[in-house]
Amino acid sequence: MSKLPKNSHLPLILAIDTSCDDTSAAVTCSSIVLSNVVASQIQLHKQYGGVFPTVAKQAHKENIEPVIAAALKKAGVSLADLAAIAVTQGPGLAPALEIGIEKAKALAQETGLPLIPVNHIEGHALSVLVEPRQKAVTLENQYAAAQQKLAGQQFPVLAVVVSGGHTEFIKVTELGTYERLGFTVDDAAGEALDKFGRMVDLGYPAGPVIEQFARLGNARAYQFPLPMTTSGNFNLSFSGMKTAARKLTEQMSAQSDLDKQQIFDLCASFQYAVFRAITYKLNKILVKEHFFGIWLGGGVASNVALRNAIRQKIRVFHLALRVPYTKRLCIDNAAMIGVVAGMHFQQHVEQHKSWESAKSVERQPRWEI
Ligand code: KG4
Ligand code: ZN
Repeated sequence: MSKLPKNSHLPLILAIDTSCDDTSAAVTCSSIVLSNVVASQIQLHKQYGGVFPTVAKQAHKENIEPVIAAALKKAGVSLADLAAIAVTQGPGLAPALEIGIEKAKALAQETGLPLIPVNHIEGHALSVLVEPRQKAVTLENQYAAAQQKLAGQQFPVLAVVVSGGHTEFIKVTELGTYERLGFTVDDAAGEALDKFGRMVDLGYPAGPVIEQFARLGNARAYQFPLPMTTSGNFNLSFSGMKTAARKLTEQMSAQSDLDKQQIFDLCASFQYAVFRAITYKLNKILVKEHFFGIWLGGGVASNVALRNAIRQKIRVFHLALRVPYTKRLCIDNAAMIGVVAGMHFQQHVEQHKSWESAKSVERQPRWEI
């Protein structure tokens, strides 16, 4: 535990995320993460094969206080050391968002600190910026270095967010200024993987299992359609390949139970199709526009095959792929929310803006970046 001086001038932020099925709280300072606690509800939702909103809400209610207490303790800070509270305002499940927002409002009121509402997708997009606390240097020194690093970043960069709820290409013109270049018109990539997983009985969430099984299978064994090739835009769609997978698995299982190798081959082929759709549109964007780098975030970003497929595609453009320093930052977490809030906090202070009243922060389940 790193004890901080009382009333430290460093802008420490307590961030909260309850957008879906993880209750998370983190303490951050600029892009540095001092703690990042996540209480996963996967075990609770497994029986439903997906996230059940009222169950998620109840679990958030039970977890929120212990998770916040653990995040503060792990960071070695108290509420009195903080500069602001941050919370995910949306997008996400309305009943789930509500719990985090209510708690954040109460804390802001209790402490008199500003409440910074954050877009969850912006969190995933900037999750590559999160860096671990280096215990060997003082937080003051690490903070100064982190600020310098952020100031030296060249823009625009292209953020690719691939999660269970979203699949988007976001142009980051500068920190805080975004343009959504393309998005999925139906399922998100992670959602398509999870639904495919249900067809072949892989449990929930299926993404990580599909990644493992795909390593043992042949990606060319089955063909799935490449979507939106004539759309003329950078949008994605995964419903066609999902329907094709349903038909194929039904036909196959009508003949006999699927054997292990067939399941491995199906996983490899379906995963290949999902990632090929993403890299196909990524290539189209890069042909049209120059970027200084590609940032990958979201739950599916922990998949090594996706990382490699993107790396292969961007090599000809002499671009590097940046991924979060740990897979814990790919899945939903509050550290990425704190880092976005830290950036907003700094911009607010520099521009001498006043803070919106905490009372007026309401959930925005469908908030687009
Ligand atoms: O970012 P996240 O935790 O939640 C959302 O904001 O949606 O992403 C969860 C999604 C799930 O669909 C899960 O199956 C997928 O990320 N996922 C993976 C892997 N790990 C998680 N998909 C493919 N490969 C993985 N290793
Ligand atoms: Zn997410």
